Amino acid sequence: TPALATVQRIVAAHAQQPGALLPILHAVQAELGHVPPDTVQAIADGLNLSRAEVHGVITFYPHFRQAPTGRHVVELCRAESCQAMGSERLAEHARKKLGCDFHATSANGAYTLEPVYCLGLCAQSPAMLIDGVPYARLTPKRFDKILGYVTE
Ligand code: FES
Repeated sequence: TPALATVQRIVAAHAQQPGALLPILHAVQAELGHVPPDTVQAIADGLNLSRAEVHGVITFYPHFRQAPTGRHVVELCRAESCQAMGSERLAEHARKKLGCDFHATSANGAYTLEPVYCLGLCAQSPAMLIDGVPYARLTPKRFDKILGYVTE
């Protein structure tokens, strides 16, 4: 598969360096958007690791995805300052609105919802990123409005 060829190229480029697994996983996700489960064996083989070891690292770090994202990625801050300003209520609203939980993608493939822990926008909590663009001082109403124009 093309994904497998990409992974094999990345593994070959990094295999000689010590501690290559994390750089490889980052590079794979940067190119493919996720780490496809059917490429884990190739990564393991390239580094003389077991499939279980590689899988363990992928699942340990919430950053790594095993499935493609939706067309838009909504990253909602759940750290302290945002919590104090109502991010839990906002999270509840976002789950309902998008119809999926955190670390999941809406049924129509439009949105992936992810938690983040502080975006450095605490003075304007609560905050989120949509496709990497920051939005702050959120309320459920503003969330809907932003979603509407970001994705129209
Ligand atoms: Fe949410 Fe800092 S805690 S931006």
